[in-house]
Amino acid sequence: MLEAGPVLVIGRNGQLAQSLNAAGRDDVMCAGRPEGDLADPGKLADLVARLRPRIILNAGGFTKVDPAETQNEEAFALNRDGPATLARLCASANIPLIHISTDCVFDGRKPGPYVADDATAPLNVYGRSKRAGEEAVAAFCRKHVIVRVSWVFSEYADNFVRTMLKLAGQRDEISVVCDQIGYPTYCPDLAAALLQIADQVLKPGFDSWGMYHLAGREEMDRASMAQAIFSESRTIGGPSARVKPVLTSDYPTPAERPLNARLDSGKAEDVFGLTLPDWRTGLQNSVRIIVAESH
Ligand SMILES: NC(=O)c1ccc[n+]([C@@H]2O[C@H](COP(=O)([O-])OP(=O)(O)OC[C@H]3O[C@@H](n4cnc5c(N)ncnc54)[C@H](OP(=O)(O)O)[C@@H]3O)[C@@H](O)[C@H]2O)c1
Repeated sequence: MLEAGPVLVIGRNGQLAQSLNAAGRDDVMCAGRPEGDLADPGKLADLVARLRPRIILNAGGFTKVDPAETQNEEAFALNRDGPATLARLCASANIPLIHISTDCVFDGRKPGPYVADDATAPLNVYGRSKRAGEEAVAAFCRKHVIVRVSWVFSEYADNFVRTMLKLAGQRDEISVVCDQIGYPTYCPDLAAALLQIADQVLKPGFDSWGMYHLAGREEMDRASMAQAIFSESRTIGGPSARVKPVLTSDYPTPAERPLNARLDSGKAEDVFGLTLPDWRTGLQNSVRIIVAESH
């Protein structure tokens, strides 16, 4: 065991967990469902007792936005009750908890980017369960940092880039909403920033606990992002399709999404000195790796 205990990540196969695992730090230990089931408080307690982490980073949860509409109980079990257990365990071990949340705690009606202390108003079950998780973490563990993220993509697991490239292999034209806007965020860049946050909160005297937003810098709508993915893919002979921009109102999904998913990272920049690199470099990496994997 590491002298000071590992950075324990809850999650293993998800895109954030994989990005954290690939960050090149031998003090990061990822625990997926078999060892760190968010729905099993006893298992979580055993894991913490066994590993004695110096900090926990919760990258796990119920992340399927549409299925959450009909799997209310599972969503709240993983997104509220699991984080509540982690928060209690962290408080009793006197270690910090970094918990990941989402833009879906907002209704998207604000004209500009959301700052960390804006009022929440989730539109869907996923957002309500994540908001309940934020409240539980803040209530049970003083030493917490909640980081809301949005529009996360990478070469890992399922995400918008992988979905678009897969669809382009099957169709000539893809309808993509053009009135949802966000700040695309490359997951390995996010992972590196979260590990910097972990290092900083562990420094003696750190006391800026609370809520933060962390996202890429350049704003984009979904249809334009799909076009950027295909333009990248074409340069390496990968799949591409025509993008037909459609309105969200013409493309109903079980869960309503916020039209404005932009998260202002200003507070994280001020407190932690963090700015994420240009996500377009990450988009190039992701497209290249996903296309190469499919050959
Ligand atoms: N992707 C986005 O655009 C986005 C946007 C906003 C917020 N977020 C937030 O970012 C965080 C990471 O998301 P992601 O994109 O990495 O999600 P993801 O790719 O869907 O991965 C989900 C993760 O949750 C873990 N998990 C599922 N059930 C679990 C359980 N019962 N116990 C423990 N872990 C469990 C999975 O564990 P296994 O490793 O065992 O499979 C996996 O590592 C989540 O909090 C999510 O809400 C993501």
